[in-house]
Amino acid sequence: MVKNVAGVMAELEPEDFYLLSGVEQGMRFSEWVNREKLPDNAGLTAEEVEYRLDRCMKRDLVERRTIQYEGYQLTFEGYDALALHTFAERESIEGVGAPLGVGKESDVYEAQSYRPLALKFHREGYTNFREVDKERDYTADNHHVSWLYTARKAAEREHDALETLYPDVAVPRPVDHNRHAILMTKFEGVELARAKLEDEQVVGVLDLILDEVAGAYDAGMVHADLSEHNVAVASSGITIFDWPQSVPTDHANADELLERDVSNLVGFFRRKYPAVVPEVDTDRVARAVADGEFETVRAFATSRSS
Ligand SMILES: Nc1ncnc2c1ncn2[C@@H]1O[C@H](COP(=O)(O)OP(=O)(O)OP(=O)(O)O)[C@@H](O)[C@H]1O
Ligand SMILES: [Mg+2]
Repeated sequence: MVKNVAGVMAELEPEDFYLLSGVEQGMRFSEWVNREKLPDNAGLTAEEVEYRLDRCMKRDLVERRTIQYEGYQLTFEGYDALALHTFAERESIEGVGAPLGVGKESDVYEAQSYRPLALKFHREGYTNFREVDKERDYTADNHHVSWLYTARKAAEREHDALETLYPDVAVPRPVDHNRHAILMTKFEGVELARAKLEDEQVVGVLDLILDEVAGAYDAGMVHADLSEHNVAVASSGITIFDWPQSVPTDHANADELLERDVSNLVGFFRRKYPAVVPEVDTDRVARAVADGEFETVRAFATSRSS
């Protein structure tokens, strides 16, 4: 579990951030940054580095490991602190509030601003390296892809996807992006998995979601992780969120991924509302979505179940 660093932000001084940035800079080249590099990287004297390291270690913002040399690494908390500091300097946020969701690969908090925002810290690469990207330009050590890079890349992808899709598709509005963190508007409603839909609303909601999936395809994107956990339902409408793994429609597997998205979604509706959702040919639904011809799943029913 990565701790919420919002509480320590007020205790940190500008020189603490110089030190954290110095460690971050060193992590481009090695997993554990040699302590001797830190005065140069951070623009601090050796004594100042010692004092700042001590303060940052106490707050779990950096870790030490002695291999052939004394090395330091940012923790996710340290990386979070750097991103929060940047958002605060840009006046993108005024404060961090309650958790909105904790996933395997992210922590999401409410953030205060001129309107309620959601702050998502990506955690990809934390426990084990997932194949987010094969590029290896971030570390000099070819056998090691830094979690820093993996998480930052995922945030970048999610932010880019939101920028492409908003406002034509019902996604959170992207507000700001730094390092492994993105800021977006907070959506209304509850996850589809926990929503209690009335029988007469069910097919309409499924059609509404598939219509947005079609809109995203038209804008050039396939979500590629669509499920009842990545859609929110409110009386004001639906929102499709969690886009870091999305792919462009000209990607070799785009149509296969679209078919999987459609089949996941329809499968969930069939399981949860078997009496009102007809059995459909999901391949045909996906093709109609891709061709911009989708109107309702009713048109694809293979049998009448109600
Ligand atoms: N813009 C938002 N507004 C309100 N709540 C949000 C927002 N974005 C995310 N959340 C909450 O945080 C939870 C996790 O977010 P998200 O699905 O984006 O990440 P994740 O599931 O951890 O990612 P992964 O699927 O890669 O594990 C969501 O289920 C939702 O409850
Ligand atoms: Mg999710």
